[in-house]
Amino acid sequence: MATPKVFVTRLMNQESLDFIGQETEMEVWSDEFPPPAEVLLTKAADVEGILTNVMDRVNSELLDAGPRLKVVSQVAVGVDNIDLAAATARGIPVGNTPGVLSGATADLAFALIMSAARRVVEANRWVRAGNWRLAFHPNFWLGADLAGATLGIVGMGKIGLEVAKRAAGFDMEVLYHSRTQKVEAEQLLKMDYVDLSTLLKRSDFVSLHVPLTPETRHLIGKVELETMKPTAILINVARGPVVDPAALYTALVEGGIAGAALDVTEPEPIPHDDPLLTLDNLVITPHIGSAGMESRRNMCMLAAKNMLAGLKGERLVHCVNPEVYG
Ligand code: NAP
Ligand code: GLV
Repeated sequence: MATPKVFVTRLMNQESLDFIGQETEMEVWSDEFPPPAEVLLTKAADVEGILTNVMDRVNSELLDAGPRLKVVSQVAVGVDNIDLAAATARGIPVGNTPGVLSGATADLAFALIMSAARRVVEANRWVRAGNWRLAFHPNFWLGADLAGATLGIVGMGKIGLEVAKRAAGFDMEVLYHSRTQKVEAEQLLKMDYVDLSTLLKRSDFVSLHVPLTPETRHLIGKVELETMKPTAILINVARGPVVDPAALYTALVEGGIAGAALDVTEPEPIPHDDPLLTLDNLVITPHIGSAGMESRRNMCMLAAKNMLAGLKGERLVHCVNPEVYG
């Protein structure tokens, strides 16, 4: 049998590349920026497998351009950049990397919760700007306490659950909203299942952990932000378009909510002149939720394993469209 050809759209850790490379004829796109769509189309024409990440658009045009494609393997859990129906219609399994990044992403959600609550980034900027003249004042730099505060988790999946575990360690009350109630998780951790409106009304922190789908696009908009407490803080480490950015800007400027912390934005990357970036009550990081070193290694290796399984016609370790297996 001829050695299968694969295209990897970004450099990743060498161990995972070697793992794929030992059984394939592999081309790796080494530029930091993603391959332009027309390049991706050309590459797809010649390979059996493509290893993608969240910046690559995998649509029917691309899948049609690759008549020999046997697998698309994504180094991420979110697959909103991939037209899953189109892949399924062509019998192409799509792999992703759930679980191995849940702890790291929940850690970042918590880093953002704490940074926004205690104004860490704003205080850091203030000190570096030479403003710290008085060593201490009881009324200075007050922020929100975590202990006793209510955390509302939207999307009780793998990452949502890790966030809930961390919240228990900080003595927070946890509410959650998801498509389905998680009775087993409720037995593990003390938390209450509520509808979205109740969660928004009662939470001091609202942390988003849903995938981006037609149902979750702008799930948090003007009405939802107006439902939140004026003292509340919104955290988004899910996907940018889950929050309406214009409505968020208004809420942050007009005091509808107290603050926000975003790891993901709409669009992404956020333009340098976006008005959100002028606000002191916004903390922002550049889509680094899963960027723990060990977690990233594990993600890349899982994506590599999905790739080789797909090329061999075996079931992927994690397949997001298992319907392809009939
Ligand atoms: P997951 O285990 O599939 O969890 C997602 C949860 O969202 C599921 O439990 C699902 O509910 C719930 N959900 C889906 N649609 C919903 C809706 N319309 N309303 C309410 N709940 C809904 O996925 P995960 O591993 O936790 O990852 C979640 C998302 O985080 C990914 O899709 C990705 O976009 C994002 N992410 C971002 C980063 C980053 O770097 N910032 C890193 C990793 C992941 P049910 O179970 O109740 O059906
Ligand atoms: C990262 O954003 C992921 O979905 O894994």
